[in-house]
Amino acid sequence: MEKYLINPNQKISKISKDIYGHFSEHLGRCIYEGLYVGEDSPIPNVNGMRKDVVEALKEMGIPVLRWPGGCFADEYHWKDGIGPKENRKKMINTHWGGVVEDNSFGTHEFFELCRQLGCEAYVNGNVGSGTVQEMSEWVEYMTFDGVSPMAELRKANGQEKPWKVKYFGVGNENWGCGGHFLPEDYAQAYLRYNTYVRDYDSKNHIYRVACGPNAEDYHWTDRVMWRAHHRIDGLSLHYYTDIWDSETKTKKSATEFNEKQYYGILAQAYKIDEIITRHIEIMNKYDPKHRVDLIVDEWGTWFDVEPGTNPGFLYQQNTMRDAIVAGLTLNIFNKHSDRIKMANIAQTVNVLQAVALTDGEKMVLTPTYHVFKMFKEHQENTLLGSFITTDTSFVDAKKHPGDESLKLPQLIESASVDENGVIYSTIVNTSAKKTAKIKCQIADTKIKSIKAEILTGDIHDKNDFDDTDNVKTAEFTDFRRISDGFYATLPPCSIVKFVIE
Ligand code: AHR
Repeated sequence: MEKYLINPNQKISKISKDIYGHFSEHLGRCIYEGLYVGEDSPIPNVNGMRKDVVEALKEMGIPVLRWPGGCFADEYHWKDGIGPKENRKKMINTHWGGVVEDNSFGTHEFFELCRQLGCEAYVNGNVGSGTVQEMSEWVEYMTFDGVSPMAELRKANGQEKPWKVKYFGVGNENWGCGGHFLPEDYAQAYLRYNTYVRDYDSKNHIYRVACGPNAEDYHWTDRVMWRAHHRIDGLSLHYYTDIWDSETKTKKSATEFNEKQYYGILAQAYKIDEIITRHIEIMNKYDPKHRVDLIVDEWGTWFDVEPGTNPGFLYQQNTMRDAIVAGLTLNIFNKHSDRIKMANIAQTVNVLQAVALTDGEKMVLTPTYHVFKMFKEHQENTLLGSFITTDTSFVDAKKHPGDESLKLPQLIESASVDENGVIYSTIVNTSAKKTAKIKCQIADTKIKSIKAEILTGDIHDKNDFDDTDNVKTAEFTDFRRISDGFYATLPPCSIVKFVIE
């Protein structure tokens, strides 16, 4: 029997809703087909945005959307994507499949999408191949409410009032696809570009995100913080979970895997806890007052594309394994919510660990979607002190020869409280085979009622266009109330949410 303790007297930090954020890039069928089909499409749409996908994302509680990339951001020239569509320049999307990008989805369409979703906008600027002037003018175009060349241009294109840009990224992966900078050189470039990202609205400071490290690149964090921390609001971290097969030179299938590969992926996903902790320690050296946040603006699983699809489109299926990755990662983000203010899973539709997949007019919601929906009540809650005892195994999850085994606890949890005193606890059982018996006790709390919901299945279970509801949430009843908590039996490969009043 594992012991699970929740302490409502220990209020740790606010869980920013933006931890539950998403990322949509001009990559494969994420924007085009996935989110945007155009006004003339036979697929039901509002101003070109797919109705089914927009409805599903709203229902899931999407708080913020990052756009236009990714690697695409540092190739994107925003002026190509404004004005009458027939005049918009066509370009080659060199990073992603070499396809023609007709720029029919641009700045105006992005803000229309955010309006329909009711979410915040996170716009990523171009440092790699763009100029300071270009970035500066984009910010002026989007946010200036006065008389200026860019504000006039925006009005001429049909948008009288400026939009709200909550977050602005100054480049993306500038250690790689965003220009192959050295960290010191990027930090210097950041300072220069950022100078001209003006706050035109004194009531709305644009939150600036600097390009941070890839995974365990602690040197990058150290150098960028050393040089530029005083002008950064958030430093971004990218962390993908994959298994690399050095013999076949592939990342392995999203749907066909054995138990060893299941645990390998989960252990790699769990490693983000240590990676976050170590980056924060470095940030603290230069920023002891914790002014700069950590932003995980790309995370998720990365497998081989579905057979027969364009390798440059990164289209992969999604199973209960992905759901477990999502659940444990979101619990980890909650636990670090004193420092993580935003995270964006890659990517929203049809790319990598997507929450929705589309095929023509059909849409299917993935297991990962259901996890985001289950966890949505954590948004803006207060993280509570909590602790669970659990078995921990060491998993052989090598990405590179010589890599050490990685730790994987069987149970990973977090708990939060809302403004009415309702407690939400989400627990992930990572085991493929073992149930977990737990005794939960909640300090100093008179419990009126407990309700619970579960997502579970075989590790390979998925939803598909001809079987859309194979994986779905259900009411969970395998628990027994006691005066200060409950006993529960959590099935293998499951995510359970308890709502305690
Ligand atoms: O999400 C796919 C790609 O992964 C992004 O474009 C890039 O930033 C990262 O390498």
